[in-house]
Amino acid sequence: MIVKVCTGKTCTGRFSPYILKRLLAEKSKFDTINKSTIEECGCQGNCKTGPVIVIDNILSDKMDPIKASNLYLEALKKK
Ligand code: FES
Repeated sequence: MIVKVCTGKTCTGRFSPYILKRLLAEKSKFDTINKSTIEECGCQGNCKTGPVIVIDNILSDKMDPIKASNLYLEALKKK
């Protein structure tokens, strides 16, 4: 599973680095067999509704660390 967190200018301005930090922390706790990769990505063209994350090519907008973490953990469960 590939999880991308937009760290383009607008999303970063809306604190996407905190989302990245939170997801990396969740991964270290809950993804002990390394089923997921968490990485930064550039602008996804959805700045208006950012910050955005993309899990296996599905974009979710209006994220905050808690929402992103819930989505990530749900997706991880299904893997
Ligand atoms: S900066 Fe994140 S979607 Fe544009």
